Amino acid sequence: DDLERLADEVRTAETVVAFTGAGISAPSGVPTFRDDDGVWEKFDEGQFTYGRFRSDPEGFWDDRVDLQREMFGDDYEPNAAHRALAEMGLDGDLEAILTQNTDGLHGRAAEAVRDESRRTEEVHDGAESAVEDGDGDGRTNGTDTALLELHGNAQRVRCTDCGKRRTADPIFERAADGALPPTCECGGVFKPDVVLFGEQLPRAVLQRARSLARESDAFLAIGSSLVVEPAASLPRVAASTDATVGIINLEETPCDDVADIVYREDVTEALPRLQDLVAE
Ligand code: OAD
Repeated sequence: DDLERLADEVRTAETVVAFTGAGISAPSGVPTFRDDDGVWEKFDEGQFTYGRFRSDPEGFWDDRVDLQREMFGDDYEPNAAHRALAEMGLDGDLEAILTQNTDGLHGRAAEAVRDESRRTEEVHDGAESAVEDGDGDGRTNGTDTALLELHGNAQRVRCTDCGKRRTADPIFERAADGALPPTCECGGVFKPDVVLFGEQLPRAVLQRARSLARESDAFLAIGSSLVVEPAASLPRVAASTDATVGIINLEETPCDDVADIVYREDVTEALPRLQDLVAE
């Protein structure tokens, strides 16, 4: 079937890049943006712009506390789709994960999968860990899948004056208790460490994402509506250099026309199977 074809492409490709959106975290209980019960059905996108953060930080933070609770209020864990990508990374089958998500789940899945593999190696090899870095390049074997969080990470905040980063939870608690906007000890205002509407993506990150799309032989867009930039153009960038483009998403997307393979299935079904097929 189509997934077998996609797995063949991934297996023979030298450079495989995965690009993910909110759909990959939906099975973990993190809401998407544009589905029927999506975040932008309940909240007004216009309240979360960079312009409003600058002109009305108090109001911005007041609303952002509610948004954060809606998105990340419940405990949530990486799901089978995050894990499948992390394991493909460990197997050396994935050059990079580019994500629009700010939930930090790809990072957590990579950590979990790495820990498990390290423990297994320890059982097999005694105290010696086979995942230890041997060539002194600072990277441990099997962990060199790059993770680019294009929209930042909502589990952190960053001071707009001194640049210091902090774990988001305690700062959001302070804001919920009335510290609006929450400030750093330097006096600067904290901002969620994410890219807001009306704010540019960091140039270096965007350039790296574009060149990864260009260099890829297989580009997999997973769980994204592919309507906002740069999501809307990255699959086209990949297609323009003859990469095989695969789209795994429940709904139609405006990039389906450039895709070689469109697979409409739940990510937690599709990705573990893809991983198995690639590893065969
Ligand atoms: P969207 O909410 O726009 O799209 C999520 C897509 O995932 C939809 O097309 C769903 O059909 C699909 N989907 C949902 N559950 C799925 C599942 N279990 N398996 C497969 N597919 C599933 O989310 P994004 O494309 O990520 O930006 O949105 C892009 C950006 O728009 C976000 O990063 C955010 C938002 O405004 C910022 O906040 C800057």
